Formats: sequence, C-alpha cells, structure tokens
Amino acid sequence: MSVLLERLGVELPVVQAGMGGGLARHELAAAVSEAGGLGTIGLLAPGDVREELRRARERTDRPVAMNLLLPLARRRHFEAAGKADVLVTFWGTPRRRTDGVWIHQCGSVDESRAAHAAGADAVIAQGVEAGGHVRGTTPALELLEQVRAALPRGYPVLVAGGIADATDVRRALDAGADGAVLGTRFLMTEESGAHPAYKQRLIEAHETLVTELFGLGWPSAPHRVLPNEATDRWLRKDRRGPAAVRTANSVLSPLLSRVPMRFQERAAAIQTPRQPLLSPMAATGGLGGLIESGPLYAGESVARIGDIRPAGAVARELADFSATS
Ligand SMILES: Cc1cc2nc3c(=O)[nH]c(=O)nc-3n(C[C@H](O)[C@H](O)[C@H](O)COP(=O)(O)O)c2cc1C
Repeated sequence: MSVLLERLGVELPVVQAGMGGGLARHELAAAVSEAGGLGTIGLLAPGDVREELRRARERTDRPVAMNLLLPLARRRHFEAAGKADVLVTFWGTPRRRTDGVWIHQCGSVDESRAAHAAGADAVIAQGVEAGGHVRGTTPALELLEQVRAALPRGYPVLVAGGIADATDVRRALDAGADGAVLGTRFLMTEESGAHPAYKQRLIEAHETLVTELFGLGWPSAPHRVLPNEATDRWLRKDRRGPAAVRTANSVLSPLLSRVPMRFQERAAAIQTPRQPLLSPMAATGGLGGLIESGPLYAGESVARIGDIRPAGAVARELADFSATS
C-alpha cells in the first residue's frame, strides 16, 4: 500500500479511475472514497466539475480526486481541480498544474520518466488492457515492472488496466504496485453515470476493440470500446477508422477545442451510426441515443465482470484478500 495514499488518508489500495463526460460524477466518487478507496470525478465543463466536487464533499469527509484530460482541460478546470485532494492528469506532456498532490497516468516508461521529472507525486502505469483512451501498447504488469525499474526506489507507482477483482488487485500489489486503478469495474456499478442500456451492454459483453473512430475533437487517441452499430459500419476495412474520418477529426480539432463542452454534447446527441462525425461522448443520462452511435468505452476485464453492484461494496471487496489464493 502506497505511503502516498496512506498520507492522504486512503485506507484501501483501490483507486476509481476518473471517467469523463458524466460517467464518474459525485455519486460514484463519493461512494468509493467513503468506502475507503480513492474516488475520482471525471472531466466535465468547468462549472460542473466544481459543483460535482462540492456535492461529493457533502457525502464524504474523505479525500476525493479529480481527473483532467490534458488535451481537453482549460485554465478554469485546473482552478476547480485545485480544490480536490488529488489531481490526476492523463494524455499529453506532464506538467505540474496544482500545488496539491498530482498523479499522472502514463502509457510508457519514457512518459513516466517525464512525469517524475516534472514533479509528479506518483504515476499510474496504464496497460493496453485498459478501457477508454489507451495511451500505450504494453500489458499492465509488464509496464509496471519497467516503470518501477526506471524510477527511484520508493517512488509511488500505481497500475491500471485489466483489473477486475481482489485476485487481480493482489497480483498487482505483489508485483510492486502502490495501488490498483480501475475504470471498467467501477463503470459497472449502480453509482456510475453510464446509461442503463450501456450498463446492459457491459454485462453482456465478451470482447472489446481498440479504434480511433470516436476522435472528433481529440484525434490520434486510440480508445478501447465495445462493438456497436457504428464500429460495425465504419471499421470493416481498418480498425482505426476510415482515413477520411481520422483526417476530418484532425482538421476540425483546433476549431472544436474552442467550442464549449455543452455544445459538443448537444451535437453528439444527434449523431447516428451512419454519420461519419463520431464524437467521443459516451452514453450517459439523457444521451441513451448514443448506444449505437457513440463510444461504449470498456476494458478487456469487461468479459470477466457480469454484474452491476454498489460501488462501495465493490471497493471493499477489491481489497478483501481473504478469498484470494
Ligand atoms: C468508461 C471509461 C472512461 C474513461 N475515461 C477516462 C478519463 O476521462 N480520463 C482518464 O484519465 N482515463 C479515463 N479512462 C481510463 C482509466 O483512467 C483507466 O486507465 C482504465 O479504466 C483502467 O483500465 P480498466 O478499464 O481495465 O480498469 C476511462 C476508462 C473507462 C473504462
């Protein structure tokens, strides 16, 4: 168990990954933190993340983290994140943007070295098994070993990707991780913001695929998703997505970075699987129409998880090693 997590007052070596667009709001983050893990609020519009943090604080006195995706985060996001106990960043050149505790998620040894050099308090080694945006190409435990060897002894390294149960958490800790970071398992909880139809797809899922299809506004960023009508239609020839769609995503990216998130959300809501404009918005709350046309982010572990349960119970069970061999 990490000295860093202990210092923060986190009892369990379990971190719920920040999942943007409304998948990880205060209900999920607070439930995980209250159970003794570290809950994380995902990226939303700046005013919304501030409000989510305020509401999480109403539910728990324990530490709560905030996650920011560097290509999409603006100055006001960093101001809001400064009020969280921990800032977790992902994707892009690691740079300290808070006076508080800062953790950077990495997909390679070079990136972990850069984060350490930039003053990160810890890194997360993300394996290729991970759901959502996938930074690297190395399996999680292999990357963990490489990152451990590259960074000074005692420096906190957490691991993410493919972790579904207490046996996996224990294996990660035995391999030298300071904590386990889980997205898919916490997506499959009562408190996650995933639309009920998305949760049903997760329960039934056996396979995932990595593509760049849903890259509008955030191109050249591979992501692991469940198959749906959009992937069936557009990935017949090339798993990354049609070249024309990827080019359009790159060209439109600078323009879209100036469009407020709320407008992007509205535009995403009217997309259909037949349209080549496929935004990264996931199916949440009122966005159930995105089941066939949007990204159903999920990690490889989805094939081993068959239920939707309360997040607090999941967090506690992940750290209960009594039944593990
Ligand atoms: C639905 C979903 C959404 C995600 N969104 C984000 C995000 O907004 N920011 C981020 O840093 N990571 C995000 N991730 C990746 C996680 O940080 C983490 O690396 C991953 O979930 C670990 O793998 P697992 O899904 O196998 O547990 C997301 C993952 C999932 C499954």
